[in-house]
Amino acid sequence: MLPASICWYATKGGVGKSTHTAHHAVLTATGDNRVLTVDLDHQGSLGRLLGYAEHDDYDGGASLAGAIRRQGEPRIIKDVRPGLDAIGGGPELAGIADYLGQQLVARPGSGWKTFEEALELVVGDYDLILIDLPPTPSPLHTAALATVHYLVLPTTTDSLGIDGVAFALSLFGEIRHLNPHLELLAVVGGLWDNRSSRGRDDAGRELADLLDGQVPVLEPWIRLAKPAADDMLRRGITAFEYEALAGDAKAARLQWLRTRQGPAPERVLDSGRGLAADYHAVLSQLADRYAERQLAYLDRVR
Ligand SMILES: Nc1ncnc2c1ncn2[C@@H]1O[C@H](COP(=O)(O)OP(=O)(O)OP(=O)(O)O)[C@@H](O)[C@H]1O
Ligand SMILES: [Mg+2]
Repeated sequence: MLPASICWYATKGGVGKSTHTAHHAVLTATGDNRVLTVDLDHQGSLGRLLGYAEHDDYDGGASLAGAIRRQGEPRIIKDVRPGLDAIGGGPELAGIADYLGQQLVARPGSGWKTFEEALELVVGDYDLILIDLPPTPSPLHTAALATVHYLVLPTTTDSLGIDGVAFALSLFGEIRHLNPHLELLAVVGGLWDNRSSRGRDDAGRELADLLDGQVPVLEPWIRLAKPAADDMLRRGITAFEYEALAGDAKAARLQWLRTRQGPAPERVLDSGRGLAADYHAVLSQLADRYAERQLAYLDRVR
């Protein structure tokens, strides 16, 4: 098991795994921690969300795939933000799930270990490792769940999102023989249309039944703000950075309205502000929960 590692885990696509991971990484790094993101998704979404997809050191997952095959080390993209580094994923990871699958057939109890060993080559310097996965269950999921310390389960308000949490809980049970340290930190709800509390309330009840008080559901649910989310993605920034940009843009626009000189400054959407507040509240609680579980873990292993 890789200490101080968290995966936002869901087998349902599009529930916000990568977006939550990006926000978690940026906020944790802002708090004076050294953070590393590891993208195991062939889509390489984190490269877009964090804006490193155009970086010279971004290799589409080639060095990560090579390291899992025991050929070299994963390449680290340094200083994606102050205190935040990244190992990029992308199309070069194609084939790595099959490779891990073959390893798992040959050695069911340890075939995933080349993934853990690949990360052990580079993780020494970091306070937190965040791993992002593709949605479809595969040997990549087995490898990541066998390696990581904590899972956070994101869901949407609909029943399909909650089914995804139920499925993750069943996988969690299956994987514990490979990784007895694996823990569920929390469930985080998202993509909630805050014009009506109905969806969130119904989903909250369904989750309460399912989780039976074993795992906390954090509040608030991350609101739906599609135009702002699209604009953030286009710019490769999180809601925290988008909110700061909105403040600057407003001042620039007021100045431009007074003088009307030069091109009009680009508009930045105000809805990023609410999104930043949601992420801030949820991730602060998650940090507390993480610190509490880490202390309990360290007490156990001491
Ligand atoms: N608060 C939000 N409001 C509206 N749309 C959002 C919000 N957060 C993220 N999105 C959008 O939802 C989509 C899915 O988000 P994301 O890629 O993070 O999910 P995912 O679970 O990682 O998906 P995948 O299963 O494909 O890896 C993206 O298009 C993203 O821009
Ligand atoms: Mg994703």
